[in-house]
Amino acid sequence: MTSDAPLVLGIETSCDETGVGLVVGTTLLADAVASSVDEHARFGGVVPEVASRAHLEAMTPTVQRALSEANVSLSDVDAIAVTGGPGLMGALLVGVAAAKAYALALEVPLYGVNHLAAHVAVDRLEHGPLPEPAIALLVSGGHSSLLMVNDITHDVTPLGMTIDDAAGEAFDKVARLLGLPFPGGPHIDRLAGEGRSDAIAFPRGLTSAHDQERHPYDFSFSGLKTSVARWVETREREGEPIPVADVAASFQEAVVDVLVRKAVAACQDRGVDHLLLGGGVAANSRLRAELVQRCNVNGIRLRVPRPGLCTDNGAMVAALGAALVESGHPPSEMSFSAESGLMVGQVVIP
Ligand code: KG4
Ligand code: ZN
Repeated sequence: MTSDAPLVLGIETSCDETGVGLVVGTTLLADAVASSVDEHARFGGVVPEVASRAHLEAMTPTVQRALSEANVSLSDVDAIAVTGGPGLMGALLVGVAAAKAYALALEVPLYGVNHLAAHVAVDRLEHGPLPEPAIALLVSGGHSSLLMVNDITHDVTPLGMTIDDAAGEAFDKVARLLGLPFPGGPHIDRLAGEGRSDAIAFPRGLTSAHDQERHPYDFSFSGLKTSVARWVETREREGEPIPVADVAASFQEAVVDVLVRKAVAACQDRGVDHLLLGGGVAANSRLRAELVQRCNVNGIRLRVPRPGLCTDNGAMVAALGAALVESGHPPSEMSFSAESGLMVGQVVIP
């Protein structure tokens, strides 16, 4: 290896992806992911027990795959980072137990890290050290948050988050009622390209003047989902065909409109000129295009990792681990516990 920086192994098991990444500094050496998403598809959502079992089976082979992809061996690893939360408890436990076993056997420091901070840190691998301060818009199946990132290793504060469904969850639920497979986000994205985004005026949650005052940076997607369901039901009752592409495009526009509006407002209000986008929904083509355009107009510099790094993976955990090692942050106690409700402001579990 050419660099003197430590080799960090990252392990992610908070939901349905078993991710193992290897990172040196801001360089990605390997990103191995095994997903159990197909096993959940027929249930229309992630089944925690099925996910935990799949992590157990995938853990060792995925670590082996990452090591051989990076052409290193376990004994080369200098530090380990693992998602400590938030996420599904049983799923988190598999990753944390594996990480502890590796750290003990290799006698290297272990960092139990925050999944959301890792989603932000991953852009180090694509575009180098993070600009700080920055605002981060994190949108995935489990979370939708606007974060103020002063320092990714210890100073991340939530500005707002969803008060009900996450953005990706809304995509998945609307896809389901349109008869599309799980996870629905990519299907809606594709279909929306064939429809008219102004065909149906769906509501923009928490954007009225009153809500703007109380919830300037919070999101709500549950009313939107219900509104789409009512619209579809009414058409069905009247025996009319459902213009699926128009519904998909109009729904997607409502989500994107709110996300972009609030993210840009957060940058302007806080005088921050860097916006980071992360999470599975960051793969959405309309969201990416609209953010590029609105950031350009408003003089905000946008950083978006490639879609493969936006969805859950181990590289993002290793990226945050590498930043922590670099900053001299103390590792977690070996006895630390996974926390399914870990608060966003807590980057590392002590
Ligand atoms: O970050 P992620 O892989 O897992 C969580 O931490 O939840 O995000 C998965 C979510 C799913 O809800 C999926 O439908 C959504 O990201 N997603 C998309 C797209 N690709 C994935 N949503 C909208 N458009 C997409 N292209
Ligand atoms: Zn995630």
